[in-house]
Amino acid sequence: MTDTDLIAAARTAALRAYAPYSKFSVGCAIESVDGAVVTGANMENACYRLGLCAEVSALTLAQASFGLDKVARIAVAGGDGSGSELAGGAAVTPCGGCRQSILEAAQLSGRDVEILCASGDGETVERHKISALIPFGFGPTSLADSARSLSRLVAQ
Ligand code: THU
Repeated sequence: MTDTDLIAAARTAALRAYAPYSKFSVGCAIESVDGAVVTGANMENACYRLGLCAEVSALTLAQASFGLDKVARIAVAGGDGSGSELAGGAAVTPCGGCRQSILEAAQLSGRDVEILCASGDGETVERHKISALIPFGFGPTSLADSARSLSRLVAQ
């Protein structure tokens, strides 16, 4: 899938957001190393803090569909989803929590996952690697020295 197609999938997914409180619709499209694509959108809640971001929605589906370790590329787009097309001119980058969730997928495969951060209208696109979005991040590889892995070493 081309970058444009992946961004288009994220923009379309945003139209299925449930965002009655912020009225800010976000869509995310994730492509696997094998070319499969899954999408997700943000889903808010009357208990505001329970809202889910589009990236986490899409990553959940990615895990169910092909596995987090197969995530190759991600597109995110956000803006006004009240019309027939997502609108807005500012590129949307993943929030801090979503960067952490993407880092989990990236470290599982050792792949520096690329994220296409698009504006609602799809005209503005920033490209970032997850290593740039969350430098010095704490991920699965940071747990190498846990007591669990030490005890495994001792048992050998
Ligand atoms: N949002 C996302 O879905 N992803 C992000 O990376 C940033 C924020 C959502 C959460 C909330 O529903 C709305 O955008 C406004 O913050």
